[in-house]
Amino acid sequence: MRELGVGQAHTLTVDAGDLLGWRPDVRRHETLLDGIRQIGYDVIGLGDNDFVDGAPFLSDAIRMRKLPVVAANIAMTANSGEIAPPYRIVKKGGLRIGVIGLVSVESFRTMPPSRMKEIAPTDPAETLRRLLPDVRKKSDIVILLSHGGVMRDRELARQFPGIAVIVGSHDRHILHTPIREGETLIVQAGPNGAYTGELILEIDRNKRIRDYRGRLIPIDEHITPDLALQRRIDAYYETPTGLVRQGALHTPDRTPFQGAKSCQPCHQDAYLQWKASRHAHAFETLVLENKNTHPECLGCHTTGFGQPSGYRDTASTPHLSDVQCEACHRMTAGHDFPLPRNPVPPVTPEVCTGCHTPSQSPGFRYEEALSHVKH
Ligand code: HEC
Ligand code: HEC
Ligand code: HEC
Ligand code: HEC
Repeated sequence: MRELGVGQAHTLTVDAGDLLGWRPDVRRHETLLDGIRQIGYDVIGLGDNDFVDGAPFLSDAIRMRKLPVVAANIAMTANSGEIAPPYRIVKKGGLRIGVIGLVSVESFRTMPPSRMKEIAPTDPAETLRRLLPDVRKKSDIVILLSHGGVMRDRELARQFPGIAVIVGSHDRHILHTPIREGETLIVQAGPNGAYTGELILEIDRNKRIRDYRGRLIPIDEHITPDLALQRRIDAYYETPTGLVRQGALHTPDRTPFQGAKSCQPCHQDAYLQWKASRHAHAFETLVLENKNTHPECLGCHTTGFGQPSGYRDTASTPHLSDVQCEACHRMTAGHDFPLPRNPVPPVTPEVCTGCHTPSQSPGFRYEEALSHVKH
């Protein structure tokens, strides 16, 4: 974000959380956090995903890299409890900017209970009520890094007038221009690092916002990669083993995945039909793209990736590359043995749209697509 002092321009760089991904992976996240340190943010907020490798990991990672994190309403249940200070006052030119970090309690709904035990998020509105007078006293302008989504950001803006800007996150909204709620500007750059946001504030002598301009900038091939960082990222992808820590994931294992070859003896017709389909070549597609070790691709181009006995890598689970029978049939144990067989769950449209998402498979029409799949 860029902010203009009296007659001069200054830049304040912030992020509103979910720096890390939802899949536990310490090595990946250390790489990411090193990159984040290199960017040199002024202030960083936290999101639910940032706790995916555990609060102790996050807390150590922040401390070791001296990251300027703010976390007003989330503490650890162990140790001192503190993950980061609730707010920071950043001085830019003659201006004191108070930046507070908040996370919505609801955003932790999908967090596994073992991880939830480590943290104690509290109500954002309560926290602001307690904190805001203090921050106001110490700053000329207040910015909130809020990890709870646009609806909640609007509510907070209504409830607490006097926050100049809310930098939002979490609900994957791409706001190409800022929203106004009363005097507060709400911005959000959306998910997956596809965009970065720029907000230019013109601030007058009385430290009030006189004018503003906001836009999103796509992070695409026009942006030159940082070579040192690129080398670290390449090194991460070159060592695919250990991408997924066994058992630490959101999805429970239903049954050991066996692969299509194990179904073939009893389901020859289905096997042959499948073998000739695109699903049986989904991994080859990643190989051709040189992306076959990228965890962000494997979930939909292999079978059971992210589940303890699912696809891991070419060396240890070669029988589970591609979108195989069990990706759709979500088998329960005891289908082929013992008798009587356990029923196989029906294949619902949601099974398909789990991978055929609007972004990856635009224009996917279930009825029509089904006719290509039936065997
Ligand atoms: C030992 C033989 C055997 C093996 C191996 C086997 N199945 Fe079956 N499967 C059967 C039989 C028998 C039926 C019942 C067929 C019928 O009623 O027409 C069946 C039925 C099914 C059905 C239809 C739904 C249902 O509940 O009736 C699906 C889907 C299915 N199997 C998928 C698979 C998949 C996927 C695999 C491999 C992971 C597999 N099967 C392995 C024997 C087997
Ligand atoms: C585990 C993820 C996954 C699931 C579940 C899945 N698909 Fe796919 N599907 C893919 C991928 C990946 C491809 C592209 C494969 C390639 O070409 O590399 C694909 C390709 C297809 C294609 C071919 C597309 C084309 O235009 O040639 C059809 C049709 C299709 N899927 C239908 C379905 C239907 C219907 C279901 C549900 C019954 C389903 N898929 C479930 C991942 C999935
Ligand atoms: C959310 C699930 C999902 C993820 C994640 C995903 N894909 Fe796919 N991908 C699909 C589906 C579904 C299709 C089939 C789309 C269609 O034809 O409608 C597909 C198709 C493709 C195709 C076109 C295949 C062809 O020959 O037509 C390529 C290339 C591809 N994916 C590469 C990737 C890469 C690289 C990544 C990681 C950066 C990735 N995908 C991540 C689901 C996914
Ligand atoms: C892209 C998703 C998908 C994949 C991959 C897939 N199936 Fe199916 N299969 C379906 C759908 C959809 C049906 C229709 C029945 C239903 O609604 O459950 C079906 C039906 C079946 C049936 C019962 C109908 C029949 O033909 O008697 C069997 C058996 C079966 N599949 C076995 C397999 C086997 C074995 C494989 C792997 C070699 C496989 N399927 C791969 C989606 C899939």
